[in-house]
Amino acid sequence: MENEPMEDQPIAGSLIEDAWSEGSIYERYMGRWSRLLARDFVTWLDIPAGGNWLDVGTGTGALVDAVCEHGKPKSILACDPVAAFVDVARRNITDDRVEFLQAGVGELPSRDGGFDMVISNVALNFFNDATEALREQASLLCAEGMVAASVWDYAGDMQFLRHFWDEAKTINPRAAKLDEGVRFSFCNPGALKELFSGAGLEKIRIFPIAVPTIFENFDDYWSPFLAGTGPAPSFVASLSEEDRILLADGLRRRLPVATDGRIDMVARAWVVAGCR
Ligand SMILES: C[S@@+](CC[C@H](N)C(=O)[O-])C[C@H]1O[C@@H](n2cnc3c(N)ncnc32)[C@H](O)[C@@H]1O
Repeated sequence: MENEPMEDQPIAGSLIEDAWSEGSIYERYMGRWSRLLARDFVTWLDIPAGGNWLDVGTGTGALVDAVCEHGKPKSILACDPVAAFVDVARRNITDDRVEFLQAGVGELPSRDGGFDMVISNVALNFFNDATEALREQASLLCAEGMVAASVWDYAGDMQFLRHFWDEAKTINPRAAKLDEGVRFSFCNPGALKELFSGAGLEKIRIFPIAVPTIFENFDDYWSPFLAGTGPAPSFVASLSEEDRILLADGLRRRLPVATDGRIDMVARAWVVAGCR
């Protein structure tokens, strides 16, 4: 019954699990793009050198790499509840300023004197209660500290996922509820501002960042969706073989595939920052 559609398994507001698990698979699916975003996000923040950072939902450490390279930190404590991600990040990042911890929202570590920056890269929408998560993050700041987050513009110009869900909805009606543009409806400037101010944060700044997502060919786009890490791949794993083939064929027709097979798109994110 491996390919039977999964019905009604409510987990974190969804019908199927988001299945964050495998570090190397995550890198091909999302890490290669979240790394590009992380670099521009840290540059936009323009934080003075020498700060102590907390990275929440670090995954395989995309943001940690960017902070080490562009943020001139004194220290970074990077957390994720998924052991497999923390293991990969710990193995790959050996910078003396960085420490990793297996921990999630609700159990974030504090620091004597507080953190200068508490930050998350494309993770805020996966926390169970984003307002509570931001409150917890704000409570860990030092007096002049800042909370910052990036989120993909799922309902708008996060193009490779937008095409995926728009096509998926034509194949299977369950996709309408699972569409990340619907589930993560606060990923737009107005709602993000409300969310940050609802968590008691002030001097809120919001900015769009678009990164190029260039796929060599259709297989480069599609194969990470077959590997089961993340919301869209989890949905693909729940489909019958027949529906999976229909979805792939539909995407082949829908995507802007160039004559040499390359698929050039952009992924837009919103970056937001606020102070206590
Ligand atoms: C899309 S990934 C982003 C990973 C990384 N920040 C990046 O830029 O590639 C979302 C991350 O949020 C983490 N996550 C999910 N629920 C969480 C929670 N309650 N607390 C902390 N992290 C969580 C997942 O394990 C995953 O690593």
